[in-house]
Amino acid sequence: MRVIYPGSFDPVTNGHLDIIQRCSERFDQVIISVLKNTKKNSVFTVEERIHLLKESTKDLKNIEIDSFSGLLTDYSRKKGCSTIIRGLRAVSDFEYEMQLALINRKTYPDLETLFMVSSTGVSFLSSSLVKEIASFNGEISCFVPKVVEEALREKFKRGAR
Ligand code: PNS
Repeated sequence: MRVIYPGSFDPVTNGHLDIIQRCSERFDQVIISVLKNTKKNSVFTVEERIHLLKESTKDLKNIEIDSFSGLLTDYSRKKGCSTIIRGLRAVSDFEYEMQLALINRKTYPDLETLFMVSSTGVSFLSSSLVKEIASFNGEISCFVPKVVEEALREKFKRGAR
């Protein structure tokens, strides 16, 4: 079974990697798809986010890293893959994720969204919080892989906010 794990990944954290690792063990292929978001103020470009994902998942064999713009349903159709994975960290994620899953199913009835519950050790993590800590030069080594830690340090040294 092939699954799509979509997201902003700005940048990938140990929370994302927990989901990716567990998907990789259970599914034949995991397509990690980076949203080329026009609205969000991203710290990393799509190319940088893809690079960080590639480096962070290089030990996993059944991973494809891709990007998409527009609707996730259109992308899923184009990819010929109708199973989406989303991580659930806490109840607070649930309302938005339900809305997303239901609206996506409305526009693509065959689309199935599977929720994977985050491991407890990373369930508090988010890219936004990691970026905030990094922006104040705080300790992030236990939240992101080494390559991401270095990239964040470099970004904020150059004045990204
Ligand atoms: O990592 P994120 O930011 O929580 O991921 C959100 C994502 C990329 C899954 C979602 O924003 C998305 O699918 N965006 C593409 C546009 C779309 O299809 N929106 C849903 C219907 S309005």
